[in-house]
Amino acid sequence: MNIVEGLKWRYATKRFDSNKKLTKDQLEYLKDAVNYIPSSFGLQPYKVFVIENPEIRAKLQEAAWGQPQLTEASQIFLFANFTQYGPDKVEQFLKLGAEINNYPLENSAGYRDLLNGTISSLTPEQLSNWNAKQAYIALGALVSAAAEQQIDICPMEGFDKAKFDEILGLKEQGLTSVCIGAVGSRSPEDKNQFLKKVRKPKSELFETI
Ligand SMILES: Cc1cc2nc3c(=O)[nH]c(=O)nc-3n(C[C@H](O)[C@H](O)[C@H](O)COP(=O)(O)O)c2cc1C
Repeated sequence: MNIVEGLKWRYATKRFDSNKKLTKDQLEYLKDAVNYIPSSFGLQPYKVFVIENPEIRAKLQEAAWGQPQLTEASQIFLFANFTQYGPDKVEQFLKLGAEINNYPLENSAGYRDLLNGTISSLTPEQLSNWNAKQAYIALGALVSAAAEQQIDICPMEGFDKAKFDEILGLKEQGLTSVCIGAVGSRSPEDKNQFLKKVRKPKSELFETI
């Protein structure tokens, strides 16, 4: 199934069949999609937790207004962005690039200045929001890859972020929760799968100028 066919097939799954688990290969495929999607400057200023633990998921469900996806899906991908991104993280990023493409770190002096200059021009709130936007792009990759593979998914942001941060100990790690992709297999009982897609006509959404 190509991506567009997959996007037409998928829907925001409300009820998952909790007996159907994704295979290891399916999970690795989804992780690859999330990892290979671009981010601004390539910084990937987020971390992705793949949550399986039933006790943690029961607590998260309470903090997500009881939404059943939290406990019924095969896995929960939780995207959390870094709340701070200082010169130390920039350095790690530059070292990784130099190592992978086999060039001396000294070549990165100009890029280092550009990155540190851009980041230091932002308030802490602007920086955290910028990082969160990057995490949403990664969620988009997860949705598209799942759709292409006919893996069911519900993208979600209907949860109490402060409570999620507390349950997962994110603040201590310099992270804050952004959004979720609950993945697995739809339950035959989920009525939403029979609804037609509601989308704007392309003539309204797009304008060629
Ligand atoms: C960022 C984002 C957050 C969402 N949050 C929730 C959520 O918390 N719970 C839920 O059931 N659906 C959630 N949805 C699903 C949307 O309501 C759904 O994608 C939209 O109504 C279009 O329907 P479709 O995905 O079935 O085509 C979210 C979708 C996105 C992209």
